[in-house]
Amino acid sequence: MSPRAGRLLLAMAMALTSLAPALPGIPLLARAGTEPPGPPLSPAERAQVLSHGPWPGPTPGDPGNRFSGLAPAQALGRLLFDEPALSGDGRLACRSCHDPARGFTDGLPTAQGVAPLARNTQGLNDLALQRWFGWDGGSDSLWAASLRPLLDPREMGATAAGVARAIRERPALAELLARARAAAGPGALPPGTRPDEADLVDAAKAIGAWLASLRSPRTAFDDFRDALARDDQAAMARYPAAALRGLRLFIGEGRCHLCHVGPAFSNGEFHDIGMPFMTGPGQVDPGRHAGLRRLLADRHNLIGGFADPPPPGMPPERDPALKTRTVNPQHRNFGEWRTPSLRGLSASAPYMHDGRLPSLAAVIDHYDRIDTERLHADGESLLRPLRLSPAQRADLLAFLLSLDPQPSPNAPRLR
Ligand code: HEC
Ligand code: HEC
Repeated sequence: MSPRAGRLLLAMAMALTSLAPALPGIPLLARAGTEPPGPPLSPAERAQVLSHGPWPGPTPGDPGNRFSGLAPAQALGRLLFDEPALSGDGRLACRSCHDPARGFTDGLPTAQGVAPLARNTQGLNDLALQRWFGWDGGSDSLWAASLRPLLDPREMGATAAGVARAIRERPALAELLARARAAAGPGALPPGTRPDEADLVDAAKAIGAWLASLRSPRTAFDDFRDALARDDQAAMARYPAAALRGLRLFIGEGRCHLCHVGPAFSNGEFHDIGMPFMTGPGQVDPGRHAGLRRLLADRHNLIGGFADPPPPGMPPERDPALKTRTVNPQHRNFGEWRTPSLRGLSASAPYMHDGRLPSLAAVIDHYDRIDTERLHADGESLLRPLRLSPAQRADLLAFLLSLDPQPSPNAPRLR
């Protein structure tokens, strides 16, 4: 390297160091590497960290959906997702609320459709790893979860006739639908189904097939986890020390990993973490309890006549419809919500089912000071106030940010 290039690099490094404390989010990561990394991970910690990968790993299909994995159907789903003509007033597309640039959310506390909704818009990445959809688990497949917002009068206010017409009038859509049908064969339909409704269901299945393919990018955490798996110390050392301390808290005294499980950091199940479920004076959102009743009443669930049969040869105990056949609402389901994934959180603020927490710092404060009196009597004994130090809260935040796609929007940009 020429002396001039060397001086330039040095100057850049110094500029970065002096800039770092002035920029929000940067000090945490910029400090990384200068602090002691702590003792090596114990065998139990190592096993726990490894269980959050590998990433991306296999992508399961959408249950009850013969279009799952089929290219023309996914292409159709992608176009339909952007198509406002599906909605009742021709103005709202799925994308209007699920903006890909925000992790498929809208940045609002609660969504605004044809009418205001009481819930926060969920992100759409990595959904194939989930079993239930919606904050309340009101749907058991991605195609049913795509059909629901179409018909919901508060969301898109669509009708079967309107969706069928929108496809018919657009040759690109009609042609993809014909190709998908030719490849997959006829779908399951209850006797007497009208052609418009068959089109609506296949439109939702095309969207479901596309959504099932969406996976979030790799993260700094994934690089660390894979380096740990192959015992590559040099690569492990690139993970910010603050994030590593935060990871240890996450799987240690924070006990976050008891619910935020596996590669998607979600056990796919429903819990009460003390979020209020009043939506206004005298009004409650009953969460999972209402979701289960909605699921069981839904004609488009996996035990209804529109669900395509599982692939031949699937053992009956692996049939995804089994979960729907065996659930039923219990009193404890009041005020329970599905554990969200923790990947790509920076893009999807605000947080929680009603969007009441504006930032990740506020989420950490919630767990730090959680009021266990507010939890169910039969209780989430997994939760207790953490009472972390400010440094520990910063470490936990650094860990959560290390689950952002690389390069993280909060990480220093070196190029
Ligand atoms: C008005 C805004 C809005 C529109 C338009 C909208 N959604 Fe949503 N979406 C939401 C909200 C809010 C939720 C959370 C719903 C709940 O829990 O009740 C959600 C949840 C979902 C979920 C479940 C995600 C999960 O993590 O389980 C899927 C799938 C989904 N939407 C797909 C779609 C598709 C496909 C369309 C278009 C056909 C669409 N949405 C249109 C706001 C919207
Ligand atoms: C008992 C299970 C459980 C434990 C333990 C738990 N969580 Fe959660 N977490 C949830 C549920 C359920 C929600 C959604 C609650 C809601 O929407 O009202 C959630 C929401 C979140 C969110 C918001 C995500 C979003 O997209 O809105 C973050 C961030 C989070 N948890 C991080 C953590 C951290 C950090 C810990 C450990 C300190 C932790 N969680 C411990 C179940 C749990």
